[in-house]
Amino acid sequence: VRIYVPADSAALALGADDVASAIRSEAARRGIAIDLVRNGTRGLLYLEPLVEVDTPDGRIGFGNVDESDVAALFDAGFHDGQSTHRLALGLVEQIPYLARQTRLTFARCGITDPLSLSDYEAHGGYRGLRQAVTMTGADIVAAVTASGLRGRGGAAFPTGIKWNTVLRAPGFQKYIVCNADEGDSGTFADRIVMESDPFVLIEGMTIAGLAVGATRGFIYVRSEYPHAIAALNHAIQTATRAGLLGANVAGSGRAFALEVRKGAGAYICGEETALLESIEGKRGVVRAKPPLPALAGLFGQPTVINNVLSLASVPVILEKGAQFYQDFGMGRSRGTLPVQLAGNIKNGGLIELAFGVTLREIMYDYGGGSASGRPIKAVQVGGPLGAYLPQSQWDTPLDYEAFAALWAVLGHGGIVVHDDSADMAKLARYAMEFCAVESCGKCTPCRIGSTRGVEVIDKIRAGTERPQQVILLRSLCDTMLNGSLCAMGGMTPYPVLSALNHFPQDFGQVAGDEL
Ligand code: NAI
Ligand code: SF4
Repeated sequence: VRIYVPADSAALALGADDVASAIRSEAARRGIAIDLVRNGTRGLLYLEPLVEVDTPDGRIGFGNVDESDVAALFDAGFHDGQSTHRLALGLVEQIPYLARQTRLTFARCGITDPLSLSDYEAHGGYRGLRQAVTMTGADIVAAVTASGLRGRGGAAFPTGIKWNTVLRAPGFQKYIVCNADEGDSGTFADRIVMESDPFVLIEGMTIAGLAVGATRGFIYVRSEYPHAIAALNHAIQTATRAGLLGANVAGSGRAFALEVRKGAGAYICGEETALLESIEGKRGVVRAKPPLPALAGLFGQPTVINNVLSLASVPVILEKGAQFYQDFGMGRSRGTLPVQLAGNIKNGGLIELAFGVTLREIMYDYGGGSASGRPIKAVQVGGPLGAYLPQSQWDTPLDYEAFAALWAVLGHGGIVVHDDSADMAKLARYAMEFCAVESCGKCTPCRIGSTRGVEVIDKIRAGTERPQQVILLRSLCDTMLNGSLCAMGGMTPYPVLSALNHFPQDFGQVAGDEL
């Protein structure tokens, strides 16, 4: 009998290794032959460790398994596909949270053994690359452009247009760089890809290399992701041995080699130019643009720099065609967005959905409401630099343009929920403090502005000269928005001003006060 115990970070943090060894020893003690596979996560993090047992009808799941449950699970016959134990969830693929998703980028996560190339290929892996090797670079770029894919790191810039700039740029050595410095609070989709399906990222980067004529690639992973780094290194070695990376990619006669680089804990190294500086061995300080990295990026050469999710979405586009991907979504937001639901929410996890679903559906139909059971007050979308949305905005569909119209961002798809005990002025202060701590220091609006911002919010919260301090805070935010060199200083006003505008009572507004 085949039993799956996830080995991604979330499951490991919740004792998955202990569960796996308990299952091994209990099976041995009972003389039951098992094949234990360490799969990745399905993204149903609220159920981890989610143990699955193969049956002729599909896999049966057992959620939140602790090592102390293992003997009772065997007693209840879980290894025979019996679904009577109190932790039994029935067929995993029928759990509504998963069944109602559209899994394109995350199609294999939790299903396969992440480190097995044959498992990857048995589930559709490397079909996109095999298609790409039959095409010219320009045709690959045209397919990615036609799919409508936009940068999933947060800025939503059309991926095909970026690739086209690099394809046409003159340069003796072009590079593909993957931004895996997933620093946004409440986000974990990049990590899940790297830990649960590393080959899909490798395949996407290889296709990008063939498309623009780059022969070398780097994956810049934050140091807080040791399991992702180990999985990627293992998968790169396997792909290289199989001839899918190296001097002759899949027999195409074209070369592509890949290396992992580890960050050192700076949020700003997720900004693309600071990231390039860091790979070059320098301090992570933002470069002025232009020149764009597409024209003069890593070591001054034309460079495609994309987020993990953008690159991991490429294989399915090449495999199934641009139109297949383009058919999902709404407006100019095509395909799927992997939403990461976190904070004060009952069912946290990864939800891959076509654009168009509303925030309210995500929070209640999937998330099940707040974990505390109290009413939800505010939800921050798009990481620590994203706006706070009040209840009146929860019917907004997930769509880049619909969010922009509200002066909000979808960013990297992180959604952090707060209940009615949240103090929005304190959260606004936190945004300024975060900026002050993480600022690279290159430009004044961000470096000085964020520190002044903390002081001003402190005065507002203390009730000192409140009307004047609010005017000052707005003016400071205006300077940061318009005068900062990058999104760090340029977007910190989003959480601050949205908190101030939508929740004035938390800033001590009294009747007649004009905030
Ligand atoms: P941006 O709008 O300046 O650039 C977007 C991308 O398009 C860049 O790669 C840029 O080089 C490229 N580009 C622009 N014009 C181009 C052209 N004509 N040809 C080729 N390439 C072109 O945005 P930026 O500063 O790269 O990213 C800001 C976003 O990052 C924010 O919206 C935020 O949501 C997100 N973010 C994500 C984080 C995460 O952990 N994933 C953390 C912090 C911010
Ligand atoms: Fe550096 Fe902040 Fe300026 Fe960005 S906005 S360049 S992080 S000082």
